[in-house]
Amino acid sequence: MIRASHATRTDVPAWAKSAVDPPRKSLQKGTPEAPAAGLPRLWEYVDFWKNGRSGRIRTCDPCVPNAVLYRAEPHSDKKAAYSVGFRAPQAAELRNFIPVKTGLETLILPAGEAAAAAAARALAAGGLVAFPTETVYGLGADAANAAAIAHLYAAKGRPAFNPLIAHVADVAAARQIGRFDARALKLAEAFWPGPLTLVVPKTDDCPVADLATAGLDTVAIRIPAHPVAQAILRAFGGAVVAPSANISGHVSPTLAAHVESDLAGRIDLIVDGGSVEVGVESTIVGCFETLMLLRPGGLSRERIEAVLGAPLARPPAEAESEDSQPLAPGMLASHYAPRAAVRLNAREVAPGEALLAFGPVHPPGAEAAAVMNLSPAGDLDEAAANLFGYLRALDARGPRAIAVMTIPEEGLGEAINDRLRRAAVAR
Ligand code: TXA
Ligand code: MG
Repeated sequence: MIRASHATRTDVPAWAKSAVDPPRKSLQKGTPEAPAAGLPRLWEYVDFWKNGRSGRIRTCDPCVPNAVLYRAEPHSDKKAAYSVGFRAPQAAELRNFIPVKTGLETLILPAGEAAAAAAARALAAGGLVAFPTETVYGLGADAANAAAIAHLYAAKGRPAFNPLIAHVADVAAARQIGRFDARALKLAEAFWPGPLTLVVPKTDDCPVADLATAGLDTVAIRIPAHPVAQAILRAFGGAVVAPSANISGHVSPTLAAHVESDLAGRIDLIVDGGSVEVGVESTIVGCFETLMLLRPGGLSRERIEAVLGAPLARPPAEAESEDSQPLAPGMLASHYAPRAAVRLNAREVAPGEALLAFGPVHPPGAEAAAVMNLSPAGDLDEAAANLFGYLRALDARGPRAIAVMTIPEEGLGEAINDRLRRAAVAR
């Protein structure tokens, strides 16, 4: 059953070998649980680097409710070398905090009934599980377990002000979490399950931990269509928060191997369901007084507007730097970035550059370059599906820069260009 393991295992955690059904979580607010016995300790000590200094600290206490590590300072007695806080101005400090080793051994299981059951057990025990959705691979944690969510933020190195999407199996479960007005219901009926996320007001007894919603009184909800994601959500029985399963700021994963290269050693389990279909993240619509396109994504603006019979508003101007709280949180300027610089609207390829092409005609200089074509036929859906994988593949060749041809701003082109502009921001 175990296909690959990042490190040499000495034992297999209880949830991975147990044949018993996972406990069903009820959607209830509760205090976070300590990791179950038999599960490897998620976080104990990590090495860190901060402002040019390195050291070793003890991390979040898994029993502190709503805790998120936001300041890490070496301490003389090595026991209280961290501070926990909530709704604190964490960004600047967290960005400089890079956990390098969590010591977890990451299992990779092929998708199937056994993997879904193992995933549900790991989630119920507070673990982190990567799994495919139709958009990109997600990194899941129990949405009601603040300690698990703190681990998730830490494993991704994600600024904690950036809230997460709660994934559920059906509309009934979605309505336990968020309040849907007629417009939100109309979109849910038209496009769920599928690559659409709706931001709606929380219900009074919303089970999603405050840590996952960054203290907002709205919550982002999505019902994924991918059968593997559906199987895991049904086996687990509760809501699962899942950002893309990559190191924060890096290119989103469209294959289990991408997840492994970013997160092996930091998470418990990767369920390998092959390559994803859509290739860019879900479209996010804010169901506020006016309906707002918060993030272009795998469902085109045109299709949503056709159902609504009205245009979607644009979000207020984005925050300019990573240090300020974004209005539509998560829309950090630099994001989705490969290691190489990215140059947009390329009309020629310079020496040392790789080319991310689109359409049948390559620009001058392409003959000498590493080239990957998002869609030789100029199909934007195909281009979206290939985008992140091709960026990673070109990046792995170590070019001076990745030159990207112009992509039309229509259909999924809006989401592709959004991701490319973020990848191109000077870092
Ligand atoms: O396709 C997807 O959406 C993938 C898969 C795994 O489902 N998930 C994903 O999650 O892209 P993530 O964490 O990378 O992006 C979530 C986005 C962020 O931009 C975040 O700021 C926004 O959703 N978001 C979450 N809650 C929000 C809220 N209450 N109000 C506004 N934006 C919110
Ligand atoms: Mg992401």
